[in-house]
Formats: sequence, structure tokens, C-alpha cells
Amino acid sequence: MIRIDDIQIKEDYYNLLIRLLIDKTGLNLNYYQRNFVEKRIKSRMIRVGCKTIETYYNYFLENSTETAKFLDCFNINYSVFFRNWEVFKNFEKILLYSLYISQNDIKSDLIPNPERQYRNNLSKNNKTRNIKSVIKSNINESLPHSSLYKKLWKYSEKKVNINIWSCPCANGEEPYSIAMILDNLKNQIPGFPFFRIIASDIDKDAIRKAKRGIYNEDSTKNVSKYYEKKYFTKIKKNFGSLYSLDDKIKNYVEFIEEDITNGHKLSLKYDIIFCRYLLIYINRRTREEFLDIIRNRLNFGGLLILGKTETLHNSQSELKLIDSYNRIYIKTR
Ligand SMILES: C[S@@+](CC[C@H](N)C(=O)[O-])C[C@H]1O[C@@H](n2cnc3c(N)ncnc32)[C@H](O)[C@@H]1O
Repeated sequence: MIRIDDIQIKEDYYNLLIRLLIDKTGLNLNYYQRNFVEKRIKSRMIRVGCKTIETYYNYFLENSTETAKFLDCFNINYSVFFRNWEVFKNFEKILLYSLYISQNDIKSDLIPNPERQYRNNLSKNNKTRNIKSVIKSNINESLPHSSLYKKLWKYSEKKVNINIWSCPCANGEEPYSIAMILDNLKNQIPGFPFFRIIASDIDKDAIRKAKRGIYNEDSTKNVSKYYEKKYFTKIKKNFGSLYSLDDKIKNYVEFIEEDITNGHKLSLKYDIIFCRYLLIYINRRTREEFLDIIRNRLNFGGLLILGKTETLHNSQSELKLIDSYNRIYIKTR
């Protein structure tokens, strides 16, 4: 049996493998953290029974299906609608704040069904720790307390557009979640600003899937009943259900295939950038270059929203954390 700790990844073969992948797929794994890539190579080697990196490299050359299998084990396209849904709840709150509108005047419900069931069970069992208060404290934490919110762009006569960038967007779940929130607000708020949602990713298959707009049960597990009813059509299949997203929501999002480390194709500036679950994979140098691109594209008073496990370091000092729980930053200068 091959043990992961016994496998040595020699530098020259590591580089050959990376070169091969660039040629075959355009994906440059040199941007990614070395440990992250090595672990995946080792797990594929164990799976196909290669003891050395030389034999795995040859196996890779000889087996046409190995590229796809290798990339599959990265699983980096993973995404779901309303991923970390509290982030979207606060995003909605911030938008309303920028429009001088009270949350109480708006109909919306972002709490996913499983959360609701959990909450019901808790109250049925008369437990003291009520999920509702946990949810509430996570959502309310930021807005009233941070004086930095004063720096937030405000919708006024001068500001009639909101530009939003979802980068990377994977299979579209993130930009479509944003579009649903905006459409729901737009229908209730007269004179709602014009908004444009750009979504980009390096992976053309992911973009193709995004444009199709059909998702499985796992991708939609965080969608609340309110949003499911409003924007999805459920299609029953033998193996479960599929969810087809309304064309109206699909039409809000412009998808672009691009490698962000080479810059952004459009010349737009953004008020809000969602950049979630990419920084964790990439190495330090690429990460800094990438963050420079993001920072330069963000308007003053604009928001940067990272993944919940991601953080900025001191190098990005004009970006200030306004919501530590949801990793929301504001550009202050
Ligand atoms: C885990 S997904 C994140 C999707 C979404 N932001 C979310 O939080 O659910 C990471 C995505 O990063 C994309 N990606 C990786 N390297 C990239 C690059 N250099 N430029 C653009 N996208 C990239 C992958 O194709 C993948 O779809």
C-alpha cells in the first residue's frame, strides 16, 4: 500500500506536470499554494497506484482521462446559492442602508429551510439557546456599530448605478444570489438604482453551466422557500430534483471567462466586489497581485466581500473591516 507520507514530489517532475496542465487546460497551478497542489497530486498517485512522481507523470501522459480526474480532485468549482447566507443578509442590509430604507419596510426572507427547521425543533424542545437569536446576533453585529459605515457610498442624485463584480463566480450561484436579492428589492423600492452584475471565472465549463442556469439539490440547499418560490422552477427527476432559474434573473448577469491574475477585461469600477474562496488556494505573491487588481477596481466607499475563512493582511491598508463575522471590508481612501 502507498502511504501519502512516503511520496516525494521531485521539483523537476512537479514543474513538468504543471507545464503539462498549462498546455492542456490553460490553468496555471503555479499560482496555487504548493501544499494544496502537492496533496492533490499525491492523492491521485495513490488512487492510480503510482509510487513515484515519474511514474505518475508518464501515467498522466498516457491516459487521456487523467487531466479531468486530476482537476476533479481539486473541487475548486464548489459553490452553492447563498453560500454563508448571513453574508447575503448583511449585504441586503447594507444596500438598504445606502438607500435610506428600513429593513422593516421590505419583504424578504433569506433564512434557508434547514435553518428554519432547526430553529423550530429548538423551540419545540424548549431549549434556551434559540437559533433565531444566534442568527440575529450575526446579522445585526455590524451595521449599527461601525462608524466606518459613514464612508459607504450612498444612493443619491449623483449615484444612480450600482456596479457589482462576482470574481470568481464558479457555476454562477454567487452572482445569481446577488441578482435575486437586487431584483426582490427593485420590485419593492420605487426608483431603485440601475445595477449591473459582472461575473468572471477562469473555467469555461463553469461559465457554460452558469449560463444554463439549471442546478441540483445540493447547490440550492441554502435557498429559502421565499426565493425558491419566486425564482426557481422545480423539475422532478428519477434521481431527485433539478432547479431551473428564471430567465429574468439569468439576464441580469454578464459572464466573462478570464484569468484574473492577468487583469480584468472590462474597464469598469465597482461599488461591490464579491471575491470569495479563491484567496485560500493561491500563493502569497499571486494573492497580492490579485488583491491589487481588486482594490484598484473598487470605488471609494465600496465594499469587498471575502469568503468566511479569508482575510486581508496589512498590505491592503485602505480596506477596513466593517463586519468581521462576514468578512466585509470597505474602501476608505
Ligand atoms: C470555490 S470557487 C468560488 C466560487 C464563489 N466565489 C463562491 O464563493 O462560491 C473558486 C473558483 O475560482 C476559479 N478560479 C481559480 N483560479 C482562477 C483565476 N486565476 N482566475 C479566475 N478564476 C479562477 C475556479 O475556476 C473556481 O470556479
